[in-house]
Amino acid sequence: MNNIKKIAVMTSGGDSPGMNAAIRSVVRACAYYKTECIGIYRGYQGMIDGDFVNLNARSVNNIINKGGTILKSARSTLFRTKAGRALAYEHLQKSQIDALVVIGGDGSFTGGVVFNKEYNFPIIGIPGTIDNDIFGTSHTIGYDTALNTAVEAIDKIRDTASSHKRLFFVEVMGRDAGFIALNAGVGSGAEEILIPEENLGLDRLLQSLKKSKKSGKSSSIVVVAEGHKTGENVYQLAKYVEDNLPEYEVRVSVLGHMQRGGSPSCFDRVLASRLGVKAVELLLEGKSNVMVGIKDNSVIITDLEKAIKGNHEISIELLKVSDIMTT
Ligand code: F6P
Repeated sequence: MNNIKKIAVMTSGGDSPGMNAAIRSVVRACAYYKTECIGIYRGYQGMIDGDFVNLNARSVNNIINKGGTILKSARSTLFRTKAGRALAYEHLQKSQIDALVVIGGDGSFTGGVVFNKEYNFPIIGIPGTIDNDIFGTSHTIGYDTALNTAVEAIDKIRDTASSHKRLFFVEVMGRDAGFIALNAGVGSGAEEILIPEENLGLDRLLQSLKKSKKSGKSSSIVVVAEGHKTGENVYQLAKYVEDNLPEYEVRVSVLGHMQRGGSPSCFDRVLASRLGVKAVELLLEGKSNVMVGIKDNSVIITDLEKAIKGNHEISIELLKVSDIMTT
């Protein structure tokens, strides 16, 4: 027998498509296992403020297809302080909450680990971020949708790039990780892809663009991850190329937060549904301090600390494919 009678769920950090599907799954799994469920608004900040709502199976009707998060999200600076966490604990106690499911990225999991260490409070993490930069899961919730959003946008940019014979620099999200850039780049047929994990240098970019022009390409797309490592921002990069390769007419397009919105893909909805159920089951089995994830289409479990510290490596094979595709 476990002593978990009431589980709270929250979304934290940058939102991602599919977070609602994950909330729905946690809520419905709680209902299935006859466990009370509480929603916490605005992540850790709502925990500090005691901003809670009772959730039952019907509270999450018709949200599986909705982007954003009905529980809202935040990055709380107060939760980084001992005093903030003490307040949060007080509110959880007052509402007789026994365990917590955190849907978010590594920053949110770090907060969870610290809180668990201080108060021995049961916590399970569900990876929800468009960046896909979490160790212990091949896919985070929202990544697949964001990728498709980026590819759709780049396809449209290619239409105009090709009509005007222009070179476009397209910046996609990912301040520390190049998963979106690399995969959206390959998926949209980009001529070059700049990611944080690999700095090929500006010379190589010029050489590659020169080669591309020479081979007969009239328009080009360079996909740039926010956190790429050339040391220049995307506008400076564009200017550098225009200055050095005057044969190119260059434009910049920053996709920005549109990548975080929109109706989740079927993949993200199914992933969120699977991970939400597993999170609740683990808590009811007395487990804590782990993250649920997916690998080879099976749900797997990773220590939260490992999920935070481990490195989700970019695929070397895909990097090679991207190189070959620019021939
Ligand atoms: O972590 C997800 C993410 O979308 C990153 O790709 C991006 O760098 C960051 O969040 C943007 O954060 P904010 O919405 O706080 O500006």
